[in-house]
Amino acid sequence: MSSMVDLKGRNFLTMKNYTSEEITYLLDLAEELKAKKQKGITGNSLKGKNIALIFEKPSTRTRCAFTVAAADEGAMPVYLSGGEIQLGHKESIEDTSRVLGRMFDGIEFRGFKHRSVEILAETSGVPVWNGLTDDYHPTQVLADLMTIREQFGYLQGVKIVYLGDGRNNMANSLMIGCAKMGLHFTNITPKELMPKPELLALCQEYASESCATIDVTDDVNAVAGADVIYTDVWASMGEEAKSAERIKLLKPYQVNRELMAKTGNSKTIFLHCLPAVKGNEVTDEVFESPQSFVFDQAENRLHTIKAVMVATLGER
Ligand code: CP
Ligand code: NVA
Repeated sequence: MSSMVDLKGRNFLTMKNYTSEEITYLLDLAEELKAKKQKGITGNSLKGKNIALIFEKPSTRTRCAFTVAAADEGAMPVYLSGGEIQLGHKESIEDTSRVLGRMFDGIEFRGFKHRSVEILAETSGVPVWNGLTDDYHPTQVLADLMTIREQFGYLQGVKIVYLGDGRNNMANSLMIGCAKMGLHFTNITPKELMPKPELLALCQEYASESCATIDVTDDVNAVAGADVIYTDVWASMGEEAKSAERIKLLKPYQVNRELMAKTGNSKTIFLHCLPAVKGNEVTDEVFESPQSFVFDQAENRLHTIKAVMVATLGER
């Protein structure tokens, strides 16, 4: 079925306007590209394409994944740091966007306001990919779903429990991805950090179509039966000033040995989008345990980001 999917020319800003069939297509393509990479075969599906990588915030994985993925498929990536271009400072985002659209074939954007990546998509005339905004981190969730599928062989019905800042970009995007793909998603977070009711309602709608379930609670006992325990930093990029306050608020939500044991499931795996602040959201012990698949997850950023670029811009 997924061979009928055509994503050419599409943006990837969130998974909200992607169907489960389209997401499966991206995951299948990522798997194919991973196997190819492991055999040392590079491709040319992006040959002759020039790709702008805009980063208002720092990055290791996302930047490297876009850069290496582009090179592996024959494209030329150009890194543009937010501080060094005019975007929204000396020039409106719309104007920079129209200039970049005349020179580049695709644009990746990581930054603060989600509206900025939407403006790029609306005005550049080329595919735009969200490499993280304050609200969403969809390419990360593709890699997370790929990693879960590798470990369990399927996605439908897997129980994933996220603990920590329940209204950050990761919590939001995981909730969307799980709702679309039929996973059971539980967000364990204090009352102060619960997701926006509108997003929750939207995800409940997706869930009713995919047989997913979505739960939000402040009770850590809800980890019972989890197949996957997921966490993220307690203070996201741009929120560093809230660090001390968050440590106080989120201490009971730390992923440690006792919490992993509370799942009652010896096969539970641990995931984290990274970078991790060990001793805060996760202990070193869990991070380094055989249950932790965080480096497979990080590697899968490369294959999934490559799949997004090949599907939306490449010649297949
Ligand atoms: N997970 C992730 O997006 O990592 P970077 O911030 O290093 O890109
Ligand atoms: N929530 C984190 C994710 C980092 C990949 C942040 O925005 O900093």
